[in-house]
Amino acid sequence: MNSEIKGEIEINNETALVRIRRILRKITETMGFRTTDITRIITAASELGRNIVIYAKNGVMTWNILTHNDEKGIQLDFKDNGPGISDIENAMKPGFSTGNGQGMGLSGVKRLMDEMKITSEVGKGTTIIIKKWLKS
Ligand SMILES: Nc1ncnc2c1ncn2[C@@H]1O[C@H](COP(=O)(O)OP(=O)(O)OP(=O)(O)O)[C@@H](O)[C@H]1O
Ligand SMILES: [Mg+2]
Repeated sequence: MNSEIKGEIEINNETALVRIRRILRKITETMGFRTTDITRIITAASELGRNIVIYAKNGVMTWNILTHNDEKGIQLDFKDNGPGISDIENAMKPGFSTGNGQGMGLSGVKRLMDEMKITSEVGKGTTIIIKKWLKS
């Protein structure tokens, strides 16, 4: 049996990032992730959430607990209707930033998570989907 449990959190300021960290800690602890993976997931979510606050002003994070037979994981979708990313390959490079950042966010997220998929359209917005699987 495949089943899904999901929820949604609006992202519009730093306070929302605190909420995201709190709920993700609860979910991942309940799921049985080890401490290092919990930190990875929360760090990745903070980076993507902060990018939304900075570049898109607001957006939504949807969390999904994935259960595929005996494999369990967490999927986080970050969706915004902001300016979009014109060159995703470039944006993924460590050190690339159009803002005042270090440009380490996206490349860091890729390193921390098991899967990462970016889709974006200039003038329309960005969706970034990340996943982490629970190792049994
Ligand atoms: N949600 C988004 N909407 C529009 N552009 C984005 C979004 N997220 C990232 N970007 C673009 O991708 C670039 C790289 O993002 P990344 O998070 O790697 O670095 P940064 O935010 O510039 O710096 P850092 O995260 O290290 O503080 C950003 O400078 C920005 O141009
Ligand atoms: Mg960033």
